[in-house]
Amino acid sequence: MFKSISTLSTVSTAVAGLILSVVAVNAVADEYFTITDGQLERPTGFREWVYVGTPVTPNDMNDGKAAFPEHHNVYIDPESWAHWKKTGEFREGTILMKELVSVGTKAAVSGNGYFQGDFIGLEATIKSKKHFPDEPGNWAYYSFSTPDHKTLAAEAKPFPAASCNGCHAGAAADDWVFTQYYPVLRAGKAADEDGTGGKRTDLSEEK
Ligand code: HEC
Repeated sequence: MFKSISTLSTVSTAVAGLILSVVAVNAVADEYFTITDGQLERPTGFREWVYVGTPVTPNDMNDGKAAFPEHHNVYIDPESWAHWKKTGEFREGTILMKELVSVGTKAAVSGNGYFQGDFIGLEATIKSKKHFPDEPGNWAYYSFSTPDHKTLAAEAKPFPAASCNGCHAGAAADDWVFTQYYPVLRAGKAADEDGTGGKRTDLSEEK
């Protein structure tokens, strides 16, 4: 009787261990996107990921038509952020979202400037050797934006490397990503908790 109870508990401990390790493996390999038949489903929930910065290319400084109008709010998935803080590298499965927001008004009580208006588009880039073994740097680029800037596509095909990747390959500071314009990624690079806005008191990014 005792024996069978202890066997049972050994078995259940082993099962619990197995479940835990499966959960742990899943946690390590978490992907924040779904690709089905080569199409990326429009990711949702990204405004609750880690925000890295907002470049702005206003139409009125670009002959009325910026290539990516106008503010670009950029987010990275939380697990890739954790990896970036530890290693200073973008992990397999990194996804960055760039949400386009119009210039709403140019004057506020704080002064003249560019203030965010409406959401007008959505782009994404994903690094994955598994999905894109032949893309330069294993990065693929997507757009869910539509010409009227009022709706978003439900899914998107990756662009041919030449349409997007060329600029990124030549001019981006870190592994095809424009970290030079994302202060949060610069501060967090291999800086662990020092890069989160908490520990250090000096504002410089030098470690
Ligand atoms: C003319 C050069 C150029 C081309 C072509 C280009 N990009 Fe970019 N991209 C940039 C620059 C510069 C940034 C960072 C600053 C900004 O957002 O303006 C950026 C940032 C991004 C980001 C945010 C993450 C990152 O890598 O920094 C995404 C996502 C993105 N681009 C998607 C695309 C897609 C999709 C295409 C093709 C349709 C594309 N890009 C083509 C220059 C380019």
